[in-house]
Amino acid sequence: MTRLRSILPGLSRLTVAGMALSLAVALAQPAPPAAGPWMNKALTPDERADLIVKAMTLDEKISLLHGNGWKEVGVPPERLPLRALGNAGFIPGIPRLGVPDLQMADATVGVTHSSLFGRYSTPLPSTIGEAASWDVNLAREYGDLIGRELRDQGYTMTLGGGMDLTREARNGRNFEYRGEDPVLAGTIAGVDMKALQAQHIVGDLKHYAMNDQESGRSFVNVKVGKRAMRESDLLGFEIALKSSNSGAVMCSYNLVNGDYACENNYLLNEVLKKDFGFQGFVVSDWSATHSTAKAANAGLDVQMPEAIYFGAPLKKAVEAGEVSMARLDNMVHRVMRSEFAVGLFDNPPDRRVPDVFHGLEVAERVAEQSIVLLKNAGGQLPLGSNIHSIAVIGSHADVGVVSGGGSGRVDPIGGNAVPEAGETVWHRSSPLKAIRALAQGAKVAYDPGTDANRAAALGKASDVAIVFVNQPTSEGDDVLTLSLPDKQDALVSAVVAANPHTIVVIESGGAITMPWIGQVSAVLEAWYPGTRGGEAIASILFGRANPTAKLPVTFAKSEADLPHPVETRQPEAHEGDMQPISEGAEWIVNTRRFDIEYDEGLLVGYKWYDAKQKLPLFPFGYGLSYTTYSYSGLKVSAGQVAFEVKNTGKRAGAEIAEVYATLPQAAGEPFKRLVAFTKIALEPGESKVVSLELDPHYLSIFNEDKNGWELVAGEYTVQVGGSSRDLPLSGKFRIEK
Ligand code: BGC
Repeated sequence: MTRLRSILPGLSRLTVAGMALSLAVALAQPAPPAAGPWMNKALTPDERADLIVKAMTLDEKISLLHGNGWKEVGVPPERLPLRALGNAGFIPGIPRLGVPDLQMADATVGVTHSSLFGRYSTPLPSTIGEAASWDVNLAREYGDLIGRELRDQGYTMTLGGGMDLTREARNGRNFEYRGEDPVLAGTIAGVDMKALQAQHIVGDLKHYAMNDQESGRSFVNVKVGKRAMRESDLLGFEIALKSSNSGAVMCSYNLVNGDYACENNYLLNEVLKKDFGFQGFVVSDWSATHSTAKAANAGLDVQMPEAIYFGAPLKKAVEAGEVSMARLDNMVHRVMRSEFAVGLFDNPPDRRVPDVFHGLEVAERVAEQSIVLLKNAGGQLPLGSNIHSIAVIGSHADVGVVSGGGSGRVDPIGGNAVPEAGETVWHRSSPLKAIRALAQGAKVAYDPGTDANRAAALGKASDVAIVFVNQPTSEGDDVLTLSLPDKQDALVSAVVAANPHTIVVIESGGAITMPWIGQVSAVLEAWYPGTRGGEAIASILFGRANPTAKLPVTFAKSEADLPHPVETRQPEAHEGDMQPISEGAEWIVNTRRFDIEYDEGLLVGYKWYDAKQKLPLFPFGYGLSYTTYSYSGLKVSAGQVAFEVKNTGKRAGAEIAEVYATLPQAAGEPFKRLVAFTKIALEPGESKVVSLELDPHYLSIFNEDKNGWELVAGEYTVQVGGSSRDLPLSGKFRIEK
């Protein structure tokens, strides 16, 4: 975290401390809510927002539009505004009018910084795992749990909601996003955020937009066409926003087609506010604001975490007429509207001890339903009573499971299970212990995997070897390659050479390469499985839980198959490029700008592999189970598909059925796209007829000339099945002019 923050464009300790001192308003005790007319619950959030904005002075309005410091840029806790809970951001309310404080917490995979005051919060499996469940009910529970734990701890706004698509497989933040497909990611994030907001917490979707890599994230100018954006990354946001009505959207660090995302008129005003009809407020990522009038007029509503542009300078700009009073009122209206809409005024947080038992139970269930079975040769899994000795090898599996890093990392319950790992955090959920608990008398031995020969010897002496491998990733850093670090590939190869009954369990934030895939007998992708990850992995290994998850990202055979075989990274700093990021800042960063051309356009993930006829290692939507399914009886019309799925095996399971469409030739997109999916629970031998609506939006293309969506006339091909590359059913329908 320290390292991460030190590379962030940050603020000076001096600047922030000065700001904190000026916060007289924040030091006042909150007054009892004023009984203004805006407290009338019969009015709409917009009407209530209008009334309260009218009652505010100019200074009060400005005070709601910027943050007030941040512990991690060096504000010592005693200098933080008294009421600030000390997480990532704080905007004091207005006691005289009953405006609540905005207490913001990073909470993508659980509420962060619980160690600050010895609080409890549940470290959930990462959101890429949530997406791997393809399960809207699970996503609802995920968001609900985080919403509850935020509220229990006194927070009023989440900074979670990671939504950028996995365009760059090496992106260090892929674990806190939801995969490569806009329909899957948008659906899961939307359901999650809606449930979170139901706990009277202001929601957030981030990082808007095209923040698809961490390297040079504040200085990279993404070059990409409008149609490509609208049909990929922006479509994901659009879907999530429509279903969640998220109160906020966080604009990102990077530039898009020449303008910073937080002062990008096209992204903020034209697309987000006008085309998507977004009624909430745009909050800047931390220190991603670069101007006052330009940003405010382009659609930024709130600067975080500081006041550099939206404090006194905004007041000046309003007085000088550079930002109109109408625009200022609209900025405040948006913040107030979001707070009214989630019920923050009517239901202030009531703090209590979070329900730890519920948290742990949800964490384990989400992990079980997010682990993807990638290979199972000869029915190696589940492990049965014929196994008398098991070698557990590597990846600190004796003590825990790894977590992603940065602002998407939840403090481990009880501290880091591997204290010597420094910044990489391991949750105290030991796969070894959980395996022993389920091993029914089999001998289970552990080897740390630091010496491949010794590990191989243990593997050889055992009936099966389970090799745990990891690829830790973090905000602020991309990985250089998709290969496992620390010679773990050599470890797997050595063990499998000694015992072909080798099972590999991967803990990673996204795709990795697997040079040993042909040799090992089984592979599980467990992502970063959270505080009950060890237990969930063991349940899958022993068949207590039947795997039901599928990949939300393509796994490439090698980097050579990626749209950009080598990631475009920030060039080395030249003389004069190393600067403090803002006046008086003590953090010096390389400010050298660079471009990335996303010339693959809308060919993100599987669309790239399909269009370029490349064979992936594992395709999008792929995942095995301990049972099998068959598909039949497809009926297709322009608005609907119906088909039958049968569990043809001997175990109860849940199948994710995927529906893809290929548009008429005239659309110019000769590759399929996901247009619907569902998860169906089936007993052995049971079959169900599934009927799914086809949303015309998901069948449309974005017409840049008309600046609108268009359903192209002609013949559509629909394919249905259990993986993007295994689609046994196919049908057609026409849309006439
Ligand atoms: C991250 C955001 C996060 C914010 C506050 C930034 O560095 O990009 O995702 O919400 O910090 O911690």
